[in-house]
Amino acid sequence: MTLLSVEDLKVHFDIRGGLFGTKKGSIKAVDGISFSIEQGQTYGLVGESGSGKTTSGRAIIGLNNITSGKVMFGNQDLAQKNRKDFVDVRRDIQMIFQDPYSSLNPRKRILDIIAEPLRNFERLSPIEEKRRVRELLEQVGLSSETIYKYPHEFSGGQRQRIGIARAIALKPKLIIADEPVSALDLSVQAQVLNFLRELQQELKLTYLIISHDLGIIRHMCDHIGIMYKGRYVEQGTTSDIFNNPQHIYTKRLITAIPDIDPLQRARQSELRAAAKKEYDSLYKSQFDEEGLAFPLRSISTTHKAALPEGG
Ligand SMILES: Nc1ncnc2c1ncn2[C@@H]1O[C@H](COP(=O)(O)OP(=O)(O)O)[C@@H](O)[C@H]1O
Ligand SMILES: [Mg+2]
Repeated sequence: MTLLSVEDLKVHFDIRGGLFGTKKGSIKAVDGISFSIEQGQTYGLVGESGSGKTTSGRAIIGLNNITSGKVMFGNQDLAQKNRKDFVDVRRDIQMIFQDPYSSLNPRKRILDIIAEPLRNFERLSPIEEKRRVRELLEQVGLSSETIYKYPHEFSGGQRQRIGIARAIALKPKLIIADEPVSALDLSVQAQVLNFLRELQQELKLTYLIISHDLGIIRHMCDHIGIMYKGRYVEQGTTSDIFNNPQHIYTKRLITAIPDIDPLQRARQSELRAAAKKEYDSLYKSQFDEEGLAFPLRSISTTHKAALPEGG
């Protein structure tokens, strides 16, 4: 069953200037992307910084205005103006943010941080609320004794677990995780990612994971969309993307993933150099005259790439 379906999503920001704040132009942060996520699966949005990943995620949960397109969640179009009425949807989709240092209010106790969504949506007695928060802390592997502590008393990995506890408090269906481990040390990254996967099994969650790191996306995702300047350059299953990449941009991103095996590093740097050479020599033909990706063309039922006509 399809849980979320995004159709030709565009998010353009006006550039204003001058004394009267008149419109000078627009930034096409997201310029027509489409994808869908099946229930229980993990979809990855990947691309370099500024490619429009965060804007896409924020638009889906209503933190950015949508210029055009559809965001179907069940049978509701979240792109519609009256989305404030979608109380259920606001429970069902939660977000985990990049930075566990700034996303937790330093002046609030863990109890108040995790209870915040519960207070917005459920009427619990103080005793019942504390019980739920303790339960959530245990679920994310933290001691239930910590409810009166403050965020600075925790490590980065623990803070990210607190953010996860808050996100799952209302038993959401979809979690959007924007660079969920980028602020963490490498060793802690793997722990948090594996924990997110366990939690997915346990709670039957569906994930949209946003990351600039294709290695993380490969580890976590069933389907992948690769963004470049607000558009998709390629989209497919993880196997389509890694075993049969079509676009020069995708090939270059893949060779840029660091290899853990030192014996492979020399080979990998050759591959990386070859991918860069191909990219530089084909750039003009593989992007349009504005340097943007072409419309996607089907390679197979699951795989699409932004290749030029006849290319
Ligand atoms: N509120 C905003 N106003 C104007 N431009 C924005 C705004 N938010 C993001 N942008 C621009 O949109 C583009 C995409 O940004 P973003 O979605 O944050 O990319 P990513 O998450 O892939 O790094 C960038 O050029 C960014 O500067
Ligand atoms: Mg971002």
